[in-house]
Amino acid sequence: MTVAEAIRQGEACLRPIAGDDARLEARLLLAAVLGRPREWLYLYPAFSLSPAATAQFHRLLAARCAGEPLAYLLGTREFYGRSFRVDARVLVPRPETESLLEAALAFVRSTGAVRVVDVGTGSGILGITIALECPWVRVVLLDVSADALAVARENAQRLGAASRVQLVQSDLLAALSGRYDLIIANLPYIPTAAMPGLPPEVRREPRIALDGGPDGLALYRRLFAEVPPRLSPTGALFAEIGSDQGTAVLALARHWLPNHHARVLPDLAGLDRVIAVTPPGWQAEQSRARQCHEMEVHARELDSPTSLCVHCA
Ligand SMILES: C[S@@+](CC[C@H](N)C(=O)[O-])C[C@H]1O[C@@H](n2cnc3c(N)ncnc32)[C@H](O)[C@@H]1O
Repeated sequence: MTVAEAIRQGEACLRPIAGDDARLEARLLLAAVLGRPREWLYLYPAFSLSPAATAQFHRLLAARCAGEPLAYLLGTREFYGRSFRVDARVLVPRPETESLLEAALAFVRSTGAVRVVDVGTGSGILGITIALECPWVRVVLLDVSADALAVARENAQRLGAASRVQLVQSDLLAALSGRYDLIIANLPYIPTAAMPGLPPEVRREPRIALDGGPDGLALYRRLFAEVPPRLSPTGALFAEIGSDQGTAVLALARHWLPNHHARVLPDLAGLDRVIAVTPPGWQAEQSRARQCHEMEVHARELDSPTSLCVHCA
């Protein structure tokens, strides 16, 4: 069988499970089998697969058609431009989680936050990315699952973050002492009753990474109660939530952190996705800095010798 034939066969086979992504998935699986970059397949459509490679490709197609997530079959998933190892011990990183990461990065960069905690770290995508993007931070990666921590440890080592992260097995914040500048969390938030209706490939992911209890908020309710003694007065909490949980989580934030400013941020699809609980004044300072920057740009466009910004004038 040639590369072109394998892709055609794979696309037809994957169509029911992968829809419009069937051809892309077939290419990704074939590239993984051949140990080549995906682009190589375009250059060598007539290359003949060995019998072993053909058998391996067919095994992967069968597993994918049976509902195995593509990321588990490939063993990796991209997040914020980096390739993270993933397998059945951890949640497959989701693109919408980049909204949480970007909110957290904006806070770290603007405040110079140093002590960071990532609760429910899974594969480590959030804490490891922050450690790599902001080299001055020290990050504690917490997870109740020893299996998940093993994956996070491997990712920290492969991506060169091992010296700046500490991995700790912990039920929420139980193992922590002291106060932190930033707590980020992507904890399970799917209501238990919704679990059986999830797509088959999502049900292959660890239940402990998905099931958020009766209304999806059991872990967040406990987390918010544990946060006040662990957060510095100028610290912030950012967490990913379900798109219909904004009002309930805002109420939790205002109850447990009444001196902070709480708001819900949308993801790229415009859905409520992140609860941001920031110290008093930070939000206003951010808007002022943004306004100031826009005025500077405008002044440069007008070739004005002085800034037009009222805050800088
Ligand atoms: C939704 S996954 C998020 C994984 C990763 N942070 C991400 O964004 O892809 C939730 C993670 O929380 C962990 N978890 C569940 N219950 C926990 C608890 N009580 N304490 C700490 N971690 C918990 C799970 O093991 C899982 O790795």
